[in-house]
Amino acid sequence: MPTSTDLKDMVKQQADIVRVVGEYVTLKKSGAQNYTGVCPFHQEKTGSFSVHVTRQFYHCFGCGVSGDVFSFVQKYENISFPEAIKVVAEKCGIKLPKFEYSSPEEAQQARHRGQLMEMHERACAFFEEQLRRPEAAHARQYLTNRGLGEETVREFRIGFAPDSGFLLRDKLKSDYSEPLLRESGLFSAKEGAEAGNIYSKFRNRIMFPIAQENGRVIAFTGRTLATDEKAGPKYLNSPETPIYSKGRVLFNLDKAKETIRKEFAIIVEGQMDCISVYAAGFHNVIASSGTAFSEAQVRLLSRFTKNVVVNFDPDTAGATATDRSLGMLLEEEFHIKVLRLEAGFDPDLFIRTHGAAAYKKAVIEQSRDYFDYLLDRAMAMFPVRTPEGKKNAINYLLPHVHRVSNRVERDTLASDLAQKLGIDSSVLRQEFRTAATNRSAGAVRPGAEPLVTSSEKVLIRAASATSLEEREMRSTVLRALAEERLHEGLNSETLLQHLLEAGEEVDDPMSLPLEEPERKLLASVVMKEDETLTPELLQGALEGLRHRVQIYRREREIKSGIVEAEKRNDVTALLKLKQEKLELDRKLASGLN
Ligand code: UTP
Ligand code: MN
Repeated sequence: MPTSTDLKDMVKQQADIVRVVGEYVTLKKSGAQNYTGVCPFHQEKTGSFSVHVTRQFYHCFGCGVSGDVFSFVQKYENISFPEAIKVVAEKCGIKLPKFEYSSPEEAQQARHRGQLMEMHERACAFFEEQLRRPEAAHARQYLTNRGLGEETVREFRIGFAPDSGFLLRDKLKSDYSEPLLRESGLFSAKEGAEAGNIYSKFRNRIMFPIAQENGRVIAFTGRTLATDEKAGPKYLNSPETPIYSKGRVLFNLDKAKETIRKEFAIIVEGQMDCISVYAAGFHNVIASSGTAFSEAQVRLLSRFTKNVVVNFDPDTAGATATDRSLGMLLEEEFHIKVLRLEAGFDPDLFIRTHGAAAYKKAVIEQSRDYFDYLLDRAMAMFPVRTPEGKKNAINYLLPHVHRVSNRVERDTLASDLAQKLGIDSSVLRQEFRTAATNRSAGAVRPGAEPLVTSSEKVLIRAASATSLEEREMRSTVLRALAEERLHEGLNSETLLQHLLEAGEEVDDPMSLPLEEPERKLLASVVMKEDETLTPELLQGALEGLRHRVQIYRREREIKSGIVEAEKRNDVTALLKLKQEKLELDRKLASGLN
């Protein structure tokens, strides 16, 4: 049976990276061999993302990601390598034979994940069934009181965890090992005398399944029905497990994603809020579940929209989480509107009190631009009629302004805010704009290329060639590098050394594990190929470099000659050597391209 590595090679040979990536990113042809588009892995407006047709790899000159078709799909879909192979094969209509995982650990993990998913599906069905039983009358009553009808209960697969530690365990224990049951996060273990016994973590709770993007249940959150203190927290969530990572899931994204794509996303804090808003007819709502957004969640969401209406309660204890989430969204260039409902009303309570139509009206009419909302906050906190207050307000706003990544936008924003704050001093206004515009001076310089000569570029292309016609040139260049050390002292030395060490047998030098600068250099050279690589071109480049190497060597001789001449006080020799050095420098400089 083939292993996943064999399969990778097989699929890669047949897969068309441009077609596969093209399903996720709009690509434009930008050269004989490459396409460009807007990078899906960082926020940008320019197209720094390039895909190479024959070398079958991608590289983003903005954020530096690169790899082959599998790493693209793996990153984008957030799935494992073997899963990525499957996805690519499916997209390209390649039939996969049954395969073995490349290591026993990999196989074990995949089996585990599969079993955990299955267990969650069964637990979900169990909770649903429990909700229909006579013992669950109070749970059904609770849902009715909260305005959740049968249809919503069915759609969200809301269930009930009975007040028993054993029912679920006894249902599952014949099919799953105890370590696996423990790993699921559905159970707690007794300590002390009866150590080892496990019992249900969720008891007497309304159960809301948490699904991944494709709808499969991977975790739960349970709201308590008890009123006494002993019952534990109001909401109890599944812990991190091999299938569930809190920071990578957005509650309800599975049901909301298509509408979000067409419209925008409404983000609420609580699961109950989310369900209420959804049931009221807004199918574009997701919940942050009371914690700050993680980067992964923001990325996940940005695949569907860049427009959000955030309906958090800004005055609650969660305000820091709210600020963090908003900051993160801002950095990823989301257009944010903030909806503040009347004090004391979360979306769920608002809809139950005023109805869906009123909520819709609020979303449309009361959502305010994020910075207008911040401005309100600043003006409420500081007496902006005084110069001192204005300064404070500015200092409050600046860190938020700095999160806007586009410089021009930042500048416009600063002017706008200054005007709204009633800053009429042109000095203060200018100060604010300058402070806003100059955030940390460009750590990333997209598109900046290391200085390498055209000869070096030809060598790099030949040394990383993948096509059959070019293989001959690859061995020529590798031999020259090995024997004559032509790359020593060049800016591309590290990269060429890596390619040299990889040797002729490596099929795909594009997938070598390189450090960031080398990967970037390789990508920039390969993506910008304009001349066909021919043996003549390569010979010319090699000659050019040999010539340079000679000059370098002569330069070294001259340098030590100068030191000697100085020691001897030999003015004539010194002059002659210095003259020669100047000429060599000039030659080197002119030969730089
Ligand atoms: P809230 O306390 O605002 O709850 O927490 P809620 O959504 O209004 O709940 P109901 O209406 O009383 O049922 C907001 C969110 O914070 C998380 C949950 O995701 C909740 O929906 N949370 C809250 C917890 O995870 N644990 C808690 O104990 C409380
Ligand atoms: Mn609530």
